[in-house]
Amino acid sequence: MSAPAAIALPVEACDYRTQCEPVRARFERLKARDVALRVKGLGKVFRNAEGAETVALRGIDLVTHRREFLCVVGPSGCGKSTFVRILAGLETKSSGTVSVGGVPVSGPGADRGMVFQGYTLFPWLTVKRNVAFGLEENGESRHVAEREAAQWLALIGLERFADAYPHQLSGGMKQRVAIARALAMRPRILLMDEPFSALDTQSRARMQAYLIEIWRKIDITIVFITHDLDEAVTLADRILVLKAHPGEVEELIEVPVPRPRHPGQSLTPEFRATRARLDALIHPSEAEADGPADLGGLDMVTRMASVGDEVE
Ligand SMILES: Nc1ncnc2c1ncn2[C@@H]1O[C@H](COP(=O)(O)OP(=O)(O)OP(=O)(O)O)[C@@H](O)[C@H]1O
Ligand SMILES: [Mg+2]
Repeated sequence: MSAPAAIALPVEACDYRTQCEPVRARFERLKARDVALRVKGLGKVFRNAEGAETVALRGIDLVTHRREFLCVVGPSGCGKSTFVRILAGLETKSSGTVSVGGVPVSGPGADRGMVFQGYTLFPWLTVKRNVAFGLEENGESRHVAEREAAQWLALIGLERFADAYPHQLSGGMKQRVAIARALAMRPRILLMDEPFSALDTQSRARMQAYLIEIWRKIDITIVFITHDLDEAVTLADRILVLKAHPGEVEELIEVPVPRPRHPGQSLTPEFRATRARLDALIHPSEAEADGPADLGGLDMVTRMASVGDEVE
């Protein structure tokens, strides 16, 4: 991961109890950017063969901005995968609207790339051919597609493995190729559903660093689903917290941890306060079992924006 900024913000200047000036200014700049994704009143009801209904999502409102890194967290079954699959156009919605760059989403499209939890590379194609595949499907010549694929492989640091097959790669390397394959289609938004959850802790930390580096270099908005609350605080500009049954927005947290991020920040007051807030929202009974958590002031720490009032 990159070294800390040359001019690091002094911790006392960023007291986690208030949204200090640099943090407030950062989010004002973020919200002044173009809207990348707009979700309004999104709902999803699944019906089984007997007609029984599961309300997976209800009344989701969200606006994300160009080059924002949004993480989505919430208890198992709260609808995270359903949400991201609807954004990808892989699942139909029951109500509401979704638009990307102002264009309504009505199915899969090149403006959205997707990376899944499982390894989804074509095992019979080399790394380079995996990345070039979508470009060729889109009508590029093999020569152009492979040249572009080589550039994406350089960006993710796997050019030496261009002619390897997926089974010759580690899990982390496979996911890097999956990211390159999605980015090669030049989407506006990269949708990621728990992409690192099959990796061991060390590989996962490395992948987080890689992803941040890639995100810094290119014009991409990322919607990243995770179960890992530290991962969410490490990566996100904002964290959308969903609650279960039905899946609704619980909070939208503006992460006060400065960028560029580095592992040492996990001990800072901003990081710990954000993490504690997430714990309190997602594991409330455990937070109580740990004793009376002093969460007074934490509301201010993370300065949750009510999603209803359109954070623009
Ligand atoms: N195809 C489906 N048919 C019926 N019900 C479904 C279907 N897909 C999801 N559900 C239900 O919708 C709800 C949300 O599921 P979803 O997989 O989106 O949750 P999740 O937050 O991604 O969970 P996890 O954290 O375990 O991955 C659950 O109650 C689930 O059982
Ligand atoms: Mg899921």
